[in-house]
Amino acid sequence: MEYGDYMEYIKLKSRAKINLTLDVVAKREDGYHDLEMIMQTVSLYDSIFIKKAENDGIVVKTNLYYLPTDERNITYKAAKLIKEEFDIQQGVYIELTKRIPVAAGLAGGSGNCAAVIKGMNKLFDLNLSMERMMELGARLGSDVPYCLMEGTALAQGRGEILTALSPCPHFYVLLAKPDISVSTAQVYKNLKLEEVKSHPNTKAVLKAIEDGDAEGISLGLCNVLETVTIPCKPIVGNIKEFIQNQGAFGVLMSGSGPTVFAMFHKKETAKDAAYKVKEKFGIKDVYVTEIYNSTCAKGKN
Ligand code: C5P
Repeated sequence: MEYGDYMEYIKLKSRAKINLTLDVVAKREDGYHDLEMIMQTVSLYDSIFIKKAENDGIVVKTNLYYLPTDERNITYKAAKLIKEEFDIQQGVYIELTKRIPVAAGLAGGSGNCAAVIKGMNKLFDLNLSMERMMELGARLGSDVPYCLMEGTALAQGRGEILTALSPCPHFYVLLAKPDISVSTAQVYKNLKLEEVKSHPNTKAVLKAIEDGDAEGISLGLCNVLETVTIPCKPIVGNIKEFIQNQGAFGVLMSGSGPTVFAMFHKKETAKDAAYKVKEKFGIKDVYVTEIYNSTCAKGKN
């Protein structure tokens, strides 16, 4: 975080997440699902710059021409919510530099939303507790509270009931997103929960994290939403299988997809695999990143 003389602007990093496990426990009356997921932040990030404006408007600029910059943009929504909730007259100018693939299962948008809430909290001296920011964030998306917290966490309920875990042991992470889009709402709608045969052993993965056992974590990787996304978008399964044979010690789809993530001990092996997966599937959204632990996050933003 960088401050102007009178805190006129702020710069933040908004990082991507992966799901080490994703279990759907039940369908709820309100249309959402009760989940149990182990979430982990990775180092790939979007940059967000927020400046106090001279008028009362909200202006969003982004490097991606196809992203809306009006009320439909989640950073706009977050700024509007904070302005209304705390009766802030002054407007803001938001510059969003996207690197995290959009609509990919990596909580890129939720992370941007979390960053705007954090940024405006500082910029306007709101002194909000983490709990209050999470409550506000949950109104804009189920993953936003986790993105405010970052690190290794167990998420339950809609995704907003969070328990911080001991930091996940380090490994390199290859992210590969096929050039297709997946609607999260549609994936949940098409889930046939009673037909899901294989659920994650969340307890075993929690134990592996506690023990700092990366191999143990890899053995427990499981995401029930694969049962919807993979049959509908076979390329996701093909990418998984291909990367599994490139020296990864664990491979899984993240969130509702379509991004596949893979665990590597060595950066070089991950880079080689990235090159090969790009070539093989003709995709551009392939990144080598790594586990980012919340303990390192303290004081950074
Ligand atoms: O909360 P968010 O807007 O990110 O969720 C997108 C969609 O995903 C929801 O409209 C809902 O259909 C589905 N969802 C769900 N259960 C959750 C989270 C999301 O069914 N726990």
